[in-house]
Amino acid sequence: MKIDKRDWFFVGLIVVVVGIFVGISGKEKTTTVPKNEMHAIVYEAAYKNAPGPDAPLFKRTFFKPDKKAAEVYCEPCHKEKGVPFPPNHPPKNRCLFCHKLQQ
Ligand code: HEC
Ligand code: HEC
Repeated sequence: MKIDKRDWFFVGLIVVVVGIFVGISGKEKTTTVPKNEMHAIVYEAAYKNAPGPDAPLFKRTFFKPDKKAAEVYCEPCHKEKGVPFPPNHPPKNRCLFCHKLQQ
């Protein structure tokens, strides 16, 4: 098969698209919320309406943790326990957009 200019254009396009995907997914490096005793209350609040293992499949598939209910606990406790924020920490409303819950 002869590779002409147009084929090289498509090869280049694919390389660029793959590169962008890798670049975006590499950004997801913010620390997750530790799954420990201290943060149990957060996981409890987020998953309190979670469907049980025998709920219909679509219910389990489309379940989203209640992030807003969980986030109310974050800052007061961190303040009380003196957990430091890094000096260049971004604006902190909606903690769970950036700090993901662990599965
Ligand atoms: C009941 C207290 C409490 C609550 C509620 C809480 N935290 Fe924490 N968090 C801590 C303490 C204490 C630490 C220090 C490390 C540790 O003991 O886990 C910590 C550490 C962290 C860390 C750093 C983990 C690491 O690996 O360095 C992150 C991120 C974090 N919390 C996010 C959150 C978010 C987001 C929420 C709300 C959804 C939250 N925390 C709610 C007490 C709390
Ligand atoms: C816009 C995104 C964003 C939001 C919203 C956000 N954070 Fe962060 N947070 C970061 C980044 C980025 C870092 C520093 C790098 C890292 O964690 O890997 C960080 C660091 C931290 C750390 C220190 C983690 C460590 O490993 O030392 C704690 C604790 C923390 N955030 C708690 C919170 C809490 C609590 C809230 C909500 C009140 C919150 N963050 C909201 C992005 C965010």
